[in-house]
Amino acid sequence: MVAILPAIADRRSIRVFLDRPVEQEKIEAMIEAGRLAPSSINLQHFRVLVAETPEDLAAVRAAAYHLPALMNAPVVLVCMADVGADAELQQHIGEVMAASPKADLGTLRSGRGNGLSLKMGREWALINAAIATENMVLQAVSMGLGTVWNHHFEHDEVRAHFNLPDNVALLTLLPVGYPAETPPPRPRRASVRWNPA
Ligand SMILES: Cc1cc2nc3c(=O)[nH]c(=O)nc-3n(C[C@H](O)[C@H](O)[C@H](O)COP(=O)(O)O)c2cc1C
Repeated sequence: MVAILPAIADRRSIRVFLDRPVEQEKIEAMIEAGRLAPSSINLQHFRVLVAETPEDLAAVRAAAYHLPALMNAPVVLVCMADVGADAELQQHIGEVMAASPKADLGTLRSGRGNGLSLKMGREWALINAAIATENMVLQAVSMGLGTVWNHHFEHDEVRAHFNLPDNVALLTLLPVGYPAETPPPRPRRASVRWNPA
């Protein structure tokens, strides 16, 4: 059995990093963890850009208002969703289904007879990218690295610096480095089970 829960329990949001570079193979292992994430209809919307040159780091740090969490991280992963991947793969799904004698995209019905929509859209692209991002976060923990999701940044500035096309949606800026802090666990609900009334 592979123990996942310890990595999940040990993870903390890390906002202060050592002045120590992150090995390239560790970054690659994180990206691999993202690549292998599940996604709706296997559409694999997740994309990641590695900001590690002085120019790229300066741009993402400025876009994030020079937040301390990004200032001393040696690497920042720009986590994104390729919403355009949808259209390409939708076409592929359409072709596959059209070739099947049982499939009729126009009248596709659920078990209850309701119409089924295969259109995934931006929302699902972002959900899929979030799952992949958290895979990377947990892989980082397993290698002694720290990260923190960072949602506060100027998307337009990041888009402009990296010349991102319209079909790419930004999700989060994820600083990566060796932790220089050991935060205590943040409080959690005693249970997330929903007990029906
Ligand atoms: C989607 C998401 C967005 C977040 N955005 C930020 C952020 O912008 N800045 C920040 O400092 N922390 C951010 N966090 C980290 C949360 O504050 C943190 O996960 C939460 O307080 C629990 O602490 P822990 O991660 O140490 O367990 C974010 C976390 C998630 C999952």
